[in-house]
Amino acid sequence: MIDTDSFIAGLPKAELHLHIEGSLEPEQMFEFARRNQVAIPYASVEEVRAAYQFSNLQDFLDIYYAGADVLRTEEDFRDLALAYFDRAAADGVRHAEIFFDPQTHTDRGIPFGVAANGLLAGMAEAEAKHGLTSKLILCFLRHLDEEEAFKTLGQAQPWIDRIEAVGLDSSEVGHPPSKFERVFAAAAAMGLKRVAHAGEEGPPEYIYEALDLLKIDRLDHGNRALENPDLVTRLARSGMTLTVCPLSNVKLCNVASIDEHPIDRMLALGLRATINSDDPAYFGGYVADNYRAAAAGRRLDRKDLVTLARNSFLGSFLPDEEVSRHLAALDAYAEAHA
Ligand code: ADE
Ligand code: ZN
Repeated sequence: MIDTDSFIAGLPKAELHLHIEGSLEPEQMFEFARRNQVAIPYASVEEVRAAYQFSNLQDFLDIYYAGADVLRTEEDFRDLALAYFDRAAADGVRHAEIFFDPQTHTDRGIPFGVAANGLLAGMAEAEAKHGLTSKLILCFLRHLDEEEAFKTLGQAQPWIDRIEAVGLDSSEVGHPPSKFERVFAAAAAMGLKRVAHAGEEGPPEYIYEALDLLKIDRLDHGNRALENPDLVTRLARSGMTLTVCPLSNVKLCNVASIDEHPIDRMLALGLRATINSDDPAYFGGYVADNYRAAAAGRRLDRKDLVTLARNSFLGSFLPDEEVSRHLAALDAYAEAHA
């Protein structure tokens, strides 16, 4: 029988919560800084890694937005995406739905199309190279206002048929989903799916707003739903997918340690929880590392791991026949390694 690490690496899975800017490894930061002649406030890769100590989401965001400044050209975005997909493929990822934050770039004078074209090029290459399919999710930065979000949705128009969904990220507390009700309605009218970060640091009320006002198709994080039994029942009954990010939760001090992570409690409550990496270059691991950490910290067995992988395909925005094809491959894998 193969060991747990190998079982996890080979387990067919989808990744549904990955900020592509959060996959910028320090080595690549230096490479992009050099080729674009951008100054960075670190002398070495070790110094960058040493700076990745966070006590909350905002601590991290300040460093993450600063790091993104080295991304300047389509080639940078293409290389960034391809590096992520290479790692994801090695982790057994068959399909990924990746976030990007266009406002982080347009606010620095980088046109929307530079990020979009570069990422789409990397996505096409990853499919040719690894057979790994992907979809793109445009996230609005919630610390900015509604007008800025509408402006971004306008800039996205030439690419709208290559964007699957809109999302909502950045500083959660003080920026409730209700702030973006109208822009999410406009995105829905364009045929886009909707996801939102809610209940990462914010209260259960923000999850209710994401459901009722933004009409989300998927909930990013959602951990704080566990504080409200009625909300848990509603999420479980409706089959809402939660994109849970264990190493992120620990690194941002939303969970005291991986041994105390609620991933198994979520499954036991009937929630459709999935495991994802969020910002792997900043939080100490890619998706398989997240599965491994959760498995060790919470003593998950192979059946639990298969359930988490199954949930990732069920929660994806793939058409039903592709979901069925992935589930059949997953079942065959599980049977071969029971
Ligand atoms: N942007 C990148 N990672 C994020 C996270 N975990 N929460 C909110 N916004 C983010
Ligand atoms: Zn996130």
